[in-house]
Amino acid sequence: MELRDKVVIVTGGASGIGMGLCRRFHEEQVRGLVIADLNGEAASALATELNGTSVELDVRDESAIAAMVAETESEFGQIDLFCSNAGVLDLDGNDYWASSSANEVWQRNWDIHVMAHIYAARACLPSMIERGEGYFLHTVSAAGLLSQPYTAAYATTKHAAIGFAESLAITHGDDGIKVSCLCPQGVDTAMLGGTDGGAAGLDGILSPAQVAEAVMQGLKEESFLILPHEQVAQYHRNKAHNYDRWIGGMRKLRRSMPPPTLL
Ligand SMILES: NC(=O)c1ccc[n+]([C@@H]2O[C@H](COP(=O)([O-])OP(=O)(O)OC[C@H]3O[C@@H](n4cnc5c(N)ncnc54)[C@H](O)[C@@H]3O)[C@@H](O)[C@H]2O)c1
Repeated sequence: MELRDKVVIVTGGASGIGMGLCRRFHEEQVRGLVIADLNGEAASALATELNGTSVELDVRDESAIAAMVAETESEFGQIDLFCSNAGVLDLDGNDYWASSSANEVWQRNWDIHVMAHIYAARACLPSMIERGEGYFLHTVSAAGLLSQPYTAAYATTKHAAIGFAESLAITHGDDGIKVSCLCPQGVDTAMLGGTDGGAAGLDGILSPAQVAEAVMQGLKEESFLILPHEQVAQYHRNKAHNYDRWIGGMRKLRRSMPPPTLL
């Protein structure tokens, strides 16, 4: 996909990776740029700078997503690319047991990392299928392919995000729908809070601009996986090749990395 003259929505677009995507899409001279975020003020400031439109919403609210899609279609005639990018990172709860995060934390991660992607697809698919084209970019994480110590709710729901993206691609590829999953390791955003990123930072922390560059290449190639840290491809192959050995390696990594260094 080439971005010039396209109509794009980016959720979580007011900060970090989403902001990097918005800036890069603006450079590509998109025709419509809709920046959606819980932080309406920041979204509005960026929209003013990039000549876009801002929408203050919570991606967990299906009716708000549907209304934004309907308004964008009515203003621009179509949506070419919907980027489901909003995300949150929660550490495991007491004693860092995998099961110890509160139900509310699990639910929030599920709603933001999975249901929001489903709401976007549900709202966009009818007109995309009618036109025979449309693109979904899901910001997932390397944690969705490879897990991540101390963040079970995050890693589990990011795996589920990959699962939904696979279903979307398998079911609707013949309808002309394209899907990509962006799976970086550490990126220098508010989510990492200026830390070394723990396990996510071991192969280096990229800037949002570098991630946006990798996204441009991935969208051009229309690849399902976009991996700004190229090491992730090999780790993923290692996991598939020998699951038990991979679990052993992850346990070793966790032991070497106490929780306070993570965030
Ligand atoms: N930073 C990293 O190291 C890293 C690595 C891999 C994947 N990711 C993923 O990248 C995506 C963007 O994160 P980031 O690193 O740019 O963090 P960030 O905190 O800078 O940006 C996240 C944005 O999402 C918005 N947001 C959060 N919850 C929302 C909601 N319910 N509704 C609407 N907007 C909401 C926030 O207001 C914020 O603007 C996330 O999905 C995250 O999981 C980040």
